[in-house]
Amino acid sequence: MTNRAIGVFDSGIGGLSVLQALRVKLPHENFIYIADSGHSPYGERDETHVLARSRAIVNHLVGQNVKALVIACNTATAVAIHLLREEYPELPLIGVEPALKPAVALSKTGHIGVMATRSTLGSAKFQALLNSMTARATFVVQACDGLADAIERSVETEDTSKIIALCTQYVGAMGLLGNNSGQIDSLVLGCTHYPFASEHLRTLLGQDVQIVDNGEAVARQTQRLVQTMQVEPHPASLAAPGSVSLFSTGPPQTLQAAARRWLSLTVPVGQLSF
Ligand code: DGL
Repeated sequence: MTNRAIGVFDSGIGGLSVLQALRVKLPHENFIYIADSGHSPYGERDETHVLARSRAIVNHLVGQNVKALVIACNTATAVAIHLLREEYPELPLIGVEPALKPAVALSKTGHIGVMATRSTLGSAKFQALLNSMTARATFVVQACDGLADAIERSVETEDTSKIIALCTQYVGAMGLLGNNSGQIDSLVLGCTHYPFASEHLRTLLGQDVQIVDNGEAVARQTQRLVQTMQVEPHPASLAAPGSVSLFSTGPPQTLQAAARRWLSLTVPVGQLSF
């Protein structure tokens, strides 16, 4: 019996930050990763586009017989996960959302910055999450137009000047940072692309501000879910390292270079044309 793969997708390379955490927690699982780079970025597009693309990718991955699916994109989760759950009631679906709760637990000043895409911040799902947390902390939310796209483009050009300029602009707009009263001491990265800018963010933030992302929490949730799944007996092959298959709807070399650079993965990238 073969061990069915876990599907993972994002608008582009950002979901690799989640895949990285998944591979640490679930080293024997097989993963199929799709970067929808031919139709990205999602963060400044309307909900109809993000929903249509999420549907098309989930439909494709279901056709590949995945046993579970991780939406490694805050924007697609915010816009589409509730509808996809209705459409695929049998499919275990895990999403990502900005890690407000973990940030509240970590913050000493009670002032938390949130960087995310415009679509994520404007979604009803995020607004509900934010409303449920506002009694416990003060949140400063910052839409980061263009940042995911700049991270995506820098992979090939290796030119990080736009990432640095945008991070400087957006971090600067959030107000005072530090661990004194009234200062933001925790910064939530609410887009899976942003961990790949954390080196530049760290330079801007200094050492007193903690960066909070949710890759590891999503991996833990996926691990729990996979462990409780009774859909197939654990095959002997689970003792072997799992495989990763990479696909892109855009230029394969972007995903290939990002996977090599950030995950030390040197597998070929298949081209998808839907
Ligand atoms: N990586 C995505 C997210 O987590 C979206 C980036 C984009 O396509 O704008 O929101």
